[in-house]
Amino acid sequence: MRILILGGTTEASALARLLSGRSEFSPVLSMAGRTSEPRPVPVPTRIGGFGGVDGLACFLLQERIEAVIDATHPFAAVMSRNAAEACARVHVPLLALRRPPWIPQAGDRWTEVNSMEEAVDALGDEPRRVFLTVGRLELPPFADAPQHTYLVRTIEPIGDALPVPNVIAIQDRAPFNEAAERALMEREQIEVVVTKNSGGAATYPKIVAARALGLPVIVVARPQKLRGVEEVASADAALEWLERYHGRTP
Ligand SMILES: NC(=O)c1ccc[n+]([C@@H]2O[C@H](COP(=O)([O-])OP(=O)(O)OC[C@H]3O[C@@H](n4cnc5c(N)ncnc54)[C@H](OP(=O)(O)O)[C@@H]3O)[C@@H](O)[C@H]2O)c1
Repeated sequence: MRILILGGTTEASALARLLSGRSEFSPVLSMAGRTSEPRPVPVPTRIGGFGGVDGLACFLLQERIEAVIDATHPFAAVMSRNAAEACARVHVPLLALRRPPWIPQAGDRWTEVNSMEEAVDALGDEPRRVFLTVGRLELPPFADAPQHTYLVRTIEPIGDALPVPNVIAIQDRAPFNEAAERALMEREQIEVVVTKNSGGAATYPKIVAARALGLPVIVVARPQKLRGVEEVASADAALEWLERYHGRTP
């Protein structure tokens, strides 16, 4: 069974690993190419956009794909929409693999907002020391608030994405741990954290560390879910769906 996994996430790689030892499945993992050195996975990989809905529909037909697992990041809304449209057009079943969002716990001091622009507003006018963990591509709106000092953590160098006077840029990638997150926030005298509600365990330690330090967190909510696309929350559940679909549940 030829499967296209739309990836760029821990869950996509986990599913690829689960499928790699199974002779009845022939997966290909697709990544956008945003990260220069993605972690290797033991299945064939392709990198780069498909060329919109038309390009993806052609790819599905040419490669005789029998099922698509959209395991892109919850904020990769364009790719998810394109996948839904292309799969519907060429009648290929689609499953979304999405980690559940984080839910605020006792002690969390969250301000939930719906966009990066709202996150910028929520920082306020007074200069603050901000831990900005929203991803390199989401930095430009924060240039509208140059009064703050930003500690920016990204996988790739930020280049000139945030042209403000006070930026401390660090490069690192998940998984993180709570003690190190706490130490970083204390050392840099962070006053507020900004994050997407990405969900998952790998980047959750910053939320726990902020809670422990009593810091406020501005949390950008996820884009709206697509209607009519079946969704599961784990790689194991996606595998079960594929097994059911393939008719070979052990
Ligand atoms: N957005 C985030 O916060 C975030 C965080 C962590 C990881 N990621 C990963 O980074 C990648 C890009 O995310 P994004 O938010 O920039 O996407 P996006 O805005 O939804 O997609 C923009 C375009 O990038 C291409 N693309 C996206 N994901 C792709 C994939 N898995 N394989 C091939 N092409 C893909 C598609 O180009 P065409 O139209 O040409 O097909 C798509 O139209 C995704 O793989 C996502 O899982 C995103």
